Amino acid sequence: EQPSISVYPSHKLSKINDNIYGGFTEHMGRCIYGGLYDPQNPNKNLIDENGFRKDVIESMKELNVPVVRYPGGNFVATYHWLDGVGPREKRPRRPELAWLGVESNEIGTDEFMQWCEIVGTEPYLALNFGTGTLDEALAWLEYCNSTQDTYYANLRRKHGREKPYNVKYWALGNGEDDYQDSLWETDADIRNRVLGSLAGRAGPSLISSTSERPPADPYQMTKEDYAKKAYQWAKALKLTDPSIELILCGETGHSSWDFYVLKECVKFDTHSLGGSTTASLIDMHSIHIYTACETDPLQNAIAPRSAERAIEIAASLIDLARIENGVPPSVPRQTICFDEWNVWDPSRAPGDKGAEEKYTLSDALAVAVWLNVFIRQSKYVGMANIAQSVNVISPLMTTKDGLMKQTTWWPLLLFSKYMRGTTIATHVSCGAYEGPTTPAWQQSTVDSPWLDVSATISDDGWVSFVVVNVHQTEAFDVEIAGVKEGEVKKYVVSGPSWDVVNTESEQKVGIEEDQWDGKGKLHLPKMSMTMLRWKQ
Ligand code: AHR
Repeated sequence: EQPSISVYPSHKLSKINDNIYGGFTEHMGRCIYGGLYDPQNPNKNLIDENGFRKDVIESMKELNVPVVRYPGGNFVATYHWLDGVGPREKRPRRPELAWLGVESNEIGTDEFMQWCEIVGTEPYLALNFGTGTLDEALAWLEYCNSTQDTYYANLRRKHGREKPYNVKYWALGNGEDDYQDSLWETDADIRNRVLGSLAGRAGPSLISSTSERPPADPYQMTKEDYAKKAYQWAKALKLTDPSIELILCGETGHSSWDFYVLKECVKFDTHSLGGSTTASLIDMHSIHIYTACETDPLQNAIAPRSAERAIEIAASLIDLARIENGVPPSVPRQTICFDEWNVWDPSRAPGDKGAEEKYTLSDALAVAVWLNVFIRQSKYVGMANIAQSVNVISPLMTTKDGLMKQTTWWPLLLFSKYMRGTTIATHVSCGAYEGPTTPAWQQSTVDSPWLDVSATISDDGWVSFVVVNVHQTEAFDVEIAGVKEGEVKKYVVSGPSWDVVNTESEQKVGIEEDQWDGKGKLHLPKMSMTMLRWKQ
């Protein structure tokens, strides 16, 4: 079959929320200490007066990251925010139970807020649903957002910050790939940490259907426990500050957990919201998925298509909850907050060892497919946060002398720079992969064409179109209908073999920039991502 693609710039589908290019910084491995903050680095040029890495700040600015989630992840389930405010010399060092380290609390709320202000990004805080209390959560919200003459607002003032931080996004705990956190850890995370190194047990991404899961710990927080607690906390948090947006913790988007918590928490509850008929206790539903297939680079590259199905299913579950609970159209539809996504194989990069995954070309293509998914599904996705922003399963690595940009940095940069605005329609006609997938259920539920595409139009009329050729051995020459002949900018991310990685000394995968006249066929190398841009 001769492949062909059509792009329809005038057929607008849905607005893209800039927050799909969100980041995530957890107190884990070298993300905060050594990533954001590195005062001990001997190379003083790299560090600003606050001890922050200047090169990391510049990279976040280059990506134009609109929102950053903090402080976890699993870390948050035993985190007490009061440990991290006030004079540094008085802050306690605590054992840290998620990744089994020690938390110095040198970086806490005020430092993170300061970093966000320097970067020009919005903070998104996750609440401790493990060992934390509702009182603590309310106090944190008051500390961050209140302008009143009250204890925690005054504590913030005492710590040198008069103005409120106005943190808009708050997560009701930390959701999980396939298990919600129990007290402080999930079965999935125990697998990542303890079993991760055992062959064939690569963690959450690979264990994605109920039958494949190990038995749940009976003392784990159940969906019933979680839904009740989330609803109670949501009421009190919105009473304290009705301007915030609350994120409910789902799971993979396609589980009975997601179904149950949505049904219980997405309600029409004007009583809790001061009689408002337009507000909602829950504003977004969070899902987490990591994809990976160590043994097959093709399966690895197409695995994010399973996340696309997860988004569709979660969006349907949101609609179902709204219909069944009689939520009127005056209440804006809850969106999906994909607040952990990436390629991660915990057997390659275990969590308790800092999860410093080394990314291949196949992983870069997977990230491009992930981002295509968010563009195609922009109608439903209110936020997405790559996990994580630096050093931990990240496209960006710090060294003592500077930065190393992994293969996955380049598709992320291109998308974040150009794929904003509105999703537009595309049509692809090409052959498809047929065979086993990871996760296994993907094979029977999602198509896997060799060419994975998405397209956008910006407010000033620039069309950006991405096509990922996931084929390991075949290049394609493709007719692109709808491209404007003349000056078309072309960017290609590719490399000599699927397993090539970037190192400090050699960038084997980067962006090749070129021009195309838009005439004839476009050559798509094997294992490549191509972006075209033209002014409509
Ligand atoms: O991002 C790394 C970890 O992955 C997070 O702490 C946790 O939420 C997930 O299992």
